[in-house]
Amino acid sequence: MVRWLAFVEGAERLDPWGAVEIKDYDRLLKVFGIRPFKELIPLLSKAGMEPSHLMMRGIIFGHRDFDKIIEAKIRGERVAVLTGFMPSGKFHFGHKLTVDQLIYLQRNGFKVFVAIADAEASIVRKIRREDAIRIGVEEYIANMIALGLDPKETEFYFQTNRGTPYYRLIQLFSGRVTAAEMEAIYGDLTPSKIMAALTQAADILHVQLEEYGGYKHVVVPVGADQDPHLRLTRDIADRMEGLLALERPASTYHKLQPGLDGKKMSSSRPDSTIFLTDTLEEARRKLMRALTGGRATAEEQRRLGGIPEVCSVYHMDLYHLMPEDSEVRSIYDSCRSGRILCGECKLVAWRKLEKLVEEHQRKLEKAKDIAWSVVEVPRF
Ligand code: TRP
Ligand code: SF4
Repeated sequence: MVRWLAFVEGAERLDPWGAVEIKDYDRLLKVFGIRPFKELIPLLSKAGMEPSHLMMRGIIFGHRDFDKIIEAKIRGERVAVLTGFMPSGKFHFGHKLTVDQLIYLQRNGFKVFVAIADAEASIVRKIRREDAIRIGVEEYIANMIALGLDPKETEFYFQTNRGTPYYRLIQLFSGRVTAAEMEAIYGDLTPSKIMAALTQAADILHVQLEEYGGYKHVVVPVGADQDPHLRLTRDIADRMEGLLALERPASTYHKLQPGLDGKKMSSSRPDSTIFLTDTLEEARRKLMRALTGGRATAEEQRRLGGIPEVCSVYHMDLYHLMPEDSEVRSIYDSCRSGRILCGECKLVAWRKLEKLVEEHQRKLEKAKDIAWSVVEVPRF
């Protein structure tokens, strides 16, 4: 176990781009006081939660106060997880990374809440209401269910539809932060950004209200880029003292999976990622054209080996396609030593991806029908 972590970290240190990333992640730990996730692994085992491959591989690399949540769970107290998705584009493998964490926590006894951030999508991204609603249900909720999130044990809601106590929180929060503080966190402010940030704070904190179940211990799994929202929300929770007893939320942070084109994964650049609704042909084409860490010529690659650390295909293996350590380690070693070339390696990944996408899409049709019935749809 320890050797595996050392292997991943050591490997990343060799890689100039990865090094920049790891430096950034390290900086997050140092500058913002995020704790390294791996320190929690013994505690997870004590709670009977077998650590997932995302945890063991350092993909989930940081947390705030998640140890407190696990300890509460060990004491038999009720624990919940909440996260949110902006319904602004198609559901892709970057989103799956978060959903895998929800499923893991659900199977380990956490109550799950999912916010469909339609308010944020309309006000910050200018997405049309009808589109945000349809995408929220048919892309996000449906894909989550098809991936294995149990809709009976999940509370999905649209931000714009959440009800009075939730909206009252947004108003109360607005009186507990200053513009200067928000500017320090977010930079240039607009009224929509202020609304979106306070709405997100309400997402995270409202499940502690009696009206929504009164869950006191809440963890928020997000990409590292969402930490500003968590810092704001934790401060707000502290400042409600005397009026409402809100506990600071915990959080966990994952690394952002590199896009297939080497840039950020984004639904606005369809070739940077694979959508879970792509046809097999499209998915195959994207994977085959993905940026690798291969060398200029086959001869060179056999002699020097490839660089998995900068390879988007290797990251697909690591994040999604090869939960078995032995498999991904064998790819890593074959790549480094030059025993395997990129074409063949992509085919190995493709066989896994093909099976995953095929099985997923078989479940998706039924999940779409279910999706409309598990959430209250805003009427305007
Ligand atoms: N702002 C998040 C995003 O851009 C979405 C979001 C809304 C969210 N509410 C949340 C994330 C609550 C975590 C917790 O993707
Ligand atoms: Fe990536 Fe595989 Fe090529 Fe190595 S051999 S660079 S892991 S595609």
